[in-house]
Amino acid sequence: MIYRFDILPSTNDEATAPQYVEGDIIVAERQSAGRGQRGHRWESCQGENLTFSLVLEPRFLNPSHQFLISEAVALAVCDMLMTYGIEARIKWTNDIYVGDRKLSGILIEHKLQGASLARTIVGIGLNINQTEFSADLPNPVSMAQIAHRCFDREKVLGELSERLMRRYAQLRDGEQDALQQDYHSRLYRLDQVHCYALPDGSRFRGTIRGVEPTGALCIEKEMGELQSFLFKEVEFVIQCR
Ligand code: BTN
Repeated sequence: MIYRFDILPSTNDEATAPQYVEGDIIVAERQSAGRGQRGHRWESCQGENLTFSLVLEPRFLNPSHQFLISEAVALAVCDMLMTYGIEARIKWTNDIYVGDRKLSGILIEHKLQGASLARTIVGIGLNINQTEFSADLPNPVSMAQIAHRCFDREKVLGELSERLMRRYAQLRDGEQDALQQDYHSRLYRLDQVHCYALPDGSRFRGTIRGVEPTGALCIEKEMGELQSFLFKEVEFVIQCR
């Protein structure tokens, strides 16, 4: 069921309320405190984009495999975009990029109960019809800017929720290898030499060779050494023109 709000602090926070069950979607026209990854805010112009959260109850999944949810969700966004002729890539862990610009952000939050994933909140911000962005944002882009036309946000939501449930079914049916393969084939910068930054500010050049089932990013350094990085252990250096 889809629940709609004019304004919420954050759809991810609303989605933690006990009345929501698996498959429910909470949409807000505006968020007063939209949250992004790494403590950032998520900015979105009212009435132009999509900001929503999907409730999942993936008790079938061992918490040590939770990265598969990230993969399934990122792939679903790419699947939806393909239906509009937009070829997107997944910037590890789950940003959705077209070229070097960010089209969509995903914030996934889990609630554990004992040893099982009782609830997972999948928050998605997707830039659809917005064409002007705050200068503070490093590299935003919208579907309208890419395709040079406006989109019906309701249709986009319908297509996206269908794609999300399809990829989730793939995960529930144990098709983990297929998900992992599809995720790899969509990875931004796979097998290309680029620049990366470490938390201490130092930089190095390397080539992404893949992502481990745990979610760690494997980068081959210039001397051929393969190193795995967890979330927050490495940053992409992106120069946008
Ligand atoms: C990121 O790229 O940093 C993740 C952004 C996630 C934004 C969405 S908008 C809907 C949901 N509610 C939130 O507060 N955040 C997510």
